[in-house]
Amino acid sequence: MVKAIEWKDGKVIMLDQSRLPIEVKFIECTDYQIIAEGIKKLWIRGAPAIGIAAAMGISLGAQDIRAENFDEFMERLEPIFNTMLSTRPTAVNIKWAVERIRSVLIGRRGESVDRLKEVLIEEANKILDEDIEVNKAIGRWGAQFIKDGDTILTHCNAGSLATGGYGTATAPILIAIEQGKKIQVIADETRPVLQGARLTAWELMQEGIPVTLITDSSAGALMKSGEIDLCIVGTDRTARNGDVANKIGTYTVAVLCREHDIPFYVAAPLSSIDFSISFGELIPIEERGPEEVTHIFGKCQIAPDGVKVKNMAFDVTPHRYVTAIITEKGAFRPRDLKKLMRDNVNLDELRLKP
Ligand code: MRU
Repeated sequence: MVKAIEWKDGKVIMLDQSRLPIEVKFIECTDYQIIAEGIKKLWIRGAPAIGIAAAMGISLGAQDIRAENFDEFMERLEPIFNTMLSTRPTAVNIKWAVERIRSVLIGRRGESVDRLKEVLIEEANKILDEDIEVNKAIGRWGAQFIKDGDTILTHCNAGSLATGGYGTATAPILIAIEQGKKIQVIADETRPVLQGARLTAWELMQEGIPVTLITDSSAGALMKSGEIDLCIVGTDRTARNGDVANKIGTYTVAVLCREHDIPFYVAAPLSSIDFSISFGELIPIEERGPEEVTHIFGKCQIAPDGVKVKNMAFDVTPHRYVTAIITEKGAFRPRDLKKLMRDNVNLDELRLKP
């Protein structure tokens, strides 16, 4: 299974996803600024993967800090936290990783600066390992909703490349296949950065999973002719009412699913659910440069010089279109998500059964 990022011999090795599928090139990062640049330029992308990259970037940056004591160490870490937080605004996972690291360090206040640096490396690797386990759990809960012979539509890339491994939206598909079900995947190409064409199609083919690539505008026609049984997508940030921010075009797919009575599932690790945000309109939506729309990979121009462009990288799907949010703790109706914040919640009563 393809690895988007790993910590190796004191360096962070990152697969440059902007070159896929033409070239498989790994970048050796020895400096946290390179990781921040890589997140901005989409060398690494996908909400959980950029959370892991931020954690590894912070660990890398921390190794060069000279500090006499805990307070000095924390003060010098602050600009590194801020650099990571300023890279991409929509995915909550960077904020989640920074908050987790900050609280781990606060819990270790009495330890030496050298030990704290080691703790940061351990924590970044723990975040990566846990992400893979979380995805497998999402896969086990999600596979229950997949029947033998199903054709599944997905949008963007929420596979191994977008995570520590296994993917979120792809995990139920991988587990369903392990269970012996025959599954087909339909991948939306996902304009303008083409994560579906370049990444999802590529990684599913590497896994030997049958995949058909379509243009984004074909999804409705295929649903109408009965060729799609269910849809599974990932999320960059889900509000506590179940509104889902994900790659631009996800909302269109969800509305089309409703029209055609097709279940629309969102695979979301709990780290992608922002319980501090009450509804989707409060999620910051990243706008990216016009050249992603006017040019194909900065090379071939496909729009007139100077045309006005609006390039929103994400949209928000209102919770009423979401059949269930599949987390590592089970699949839940969007309206039940906020109940997960309670201490004495009975998960079994809350879970959506297939
Ligand atoms: O702009 P990207 O490629 O980072 O957008 C990625 C997505 O929208 C994914 O669907 C989302 O991050 C979920 S990844 C498990």
